[in-house]
Order: sequence, then structure tokens, then C-alpha cells
Amino acid sequence: MRELARFRRLAWWTSAATFGLVLVGAATMASDSGLACHSWPLCHTHQLWPSLVGGVVLEWGHRMGALAVTVVTVLAAGAGLRLPPSSGPWRRGAWVALILLALQVALGGLAISSRLAPLVVVVHEGVGTAFLCLWVGLAVLAGERGRAAPDGGVRPPV
Ligand code: HEM
Repeated sequence: MRELARFRRLAWWTSAATFGLVLVGAATMASDSGLACHSWPLCHTHQLWPSLVGGVVLEWGHRMGALAVTVVTVLAAGAGLRLPPSSGPWRRGAWVALILLALQVALGGLAISSRLAPLVVVVHEGVGTAFLCLWVGLAVLAGERGRAAPDGGVRPPV
């Protein structure tokens, strides 16, 4: 089924973009750059394009990366929501992914406004990891279903 193959491709793109974002998030943390942009959602209170110097490169890069991940997630989830429910758990997966993404962005903002409260940062890391695992799982499952039933498990009406 062409729609399932499209969903699988988008799920892999979302996984790859999220993996890159996790690395930039880890680099932000390891270099103590978490408050290089001390305000949320804009940098230094009102800047959409701050000067990319020092820790701002990683911290602002992480936020812009989150924006890119949001775009591919919406595309992938939209493709999942269009698949027939009988072909697999794509719709449930898409809704869970959208909820996790909204939660993760809110936690990112809370991490800044709470001045990196440890509990918030730990939950942000956990939800980010769960989000990545979810997309890799959906991508692998979509590949397996596509191979097992090239029609995606959807029988034409008789
Ligand atoms: C899909 C979206 C996102 C994912 C998957 C994600 C993931 C991560 C991960 C894995 C870390 C590293 C934690 C560690 O290594 O222990 C991190 C750090 C961080 N993230 Fe995000 N993040 C996302 C969105 C955001 C957003 C929108 C913000 C908003 C400001 C944000 C702010 C931060 C900050 C400030 C840190 C560094 C924390 C510190 O220095 O202690 N994140 N993120």
C-alpha cells in the first residue's frame, strides 16, 4: 500500500530528526548552555534571530531543531491518521506522538522558566527518549507490515 510506505518513510525521517535533536540537547546540557537563551519562547526576551555566539548556538539550535521536528512529526502523524484503522496501530501511535510532542515542548519552556529545575530536565529527557522510541517502533512495524501484506492488510471489497 503506497500510503503505508509513505508513513514508514516519514516515520524514519521523524526518528532521524529526533535523534539529531537529542544529540544537540545532550550537547546543550553537557556544555552548560541550557540558559544561554534565558527566556522562552524567544531568546533574550524578544529575539527571534539572536547572535549565534557561545552557548546560544546549541541552545537556540536545539529550539530551532524542535521546530523542524514538529514539522516532520505533523506530516508523519497526518499520514498515520489517514491510514485505515484495520491496517495497524498507526492512528493511536500518531495521537500519542502528538501528545508527547506538545508535552515535550511545554517541558522545554518550563525547563527555561524554572531555571533548569532538575525534575523538569529529567522528565524532559525521559519524554524525549520515549518520543524517539515511539517513532522508531512505528517505522520498524510499518516496514514489517508492508512486507507481510503489500496491500497493508486491507482487503479490496468483494
Ligand atoms: C521534540 C522536541 C524535543 C526533544 C526530543 C528534546 C530532547 C532533549 C534532550 C534529549 C535533552 C538532553 C537531556 C540530557 O542529555 O540529559 C534536551 C535538553 C534541553 N532541552 Fe530539549 N527537546 C525538545 C524540545 C525542546 C524545546 C522546545 C525546548 C525549549 C526551550 C527545549 C529546551 C531544552 C534545554 C534548555 C535543554 C538543556 C537542559 C540543561 O541544560 O539542563 N527542548 N532536550
